[in-house]
Amino acid sequence: MRACAKKFGDGSAEDENLWGIVGLIHDFDYERWPSLEDHPYRGNEILKERGWPEVVRRAIMSHAEYSGVTRDTPMEKALFACDELAGFITAVALIKPGKSLAEVDAKSVRKRMKDKAFARKVNRDDIVNGAAALGVDLDEHIALCIVALQGIAGELGLDGSAAKTG
Ligand SMILES: [Fe+2]
Repeated sequence: MRACAKKFGDGSAEDENLWGIVGLIHDFDYERWPSLEDHPYRGNEILKERGWPEVVRRAIMSHAEYSGVTRDTPMEKALFACDELAGFITAVALIKPGKSLAEVDAKSVRKRMKDKAFARKVNRDDIVNGAAALGVDLDEHIALCIVALQGIAGELGLDGSAAKTG
């Protein structure tokens, strides 16, 4: 989301932080309340109680297709365009020999997207439609997300060290 903010945001550090926070917390209620009735509604209530701004809560609500909250701003569109894709890129990294993001490129991601048996829970249409709504070429968007994740590969445990120790 920070990488997307640099490309689609207003260019300020404050804006980049905002996009980063939205990406970081958008699923915070999911582990406890994963059902369609609860997520992201429970999280939204908690954030509201704690005084989180509308801009954050609205973006989080909009990432759920079924919430009825439309994705209007670039940040809202980016959240949806990155959500499933980030998970999918992670899945592609994990099947590489070194289990690292350094081994992943846009071509390998596109190839795996055509493999219906691979990472079945990831909705390919969400990835394709998300990029289209953001107004970006799909390969370009995949490449941006890969590079962004590569930048924090260590924090994600996808820098290759897992393969060596495992
Ligand atoms: Fe979610």
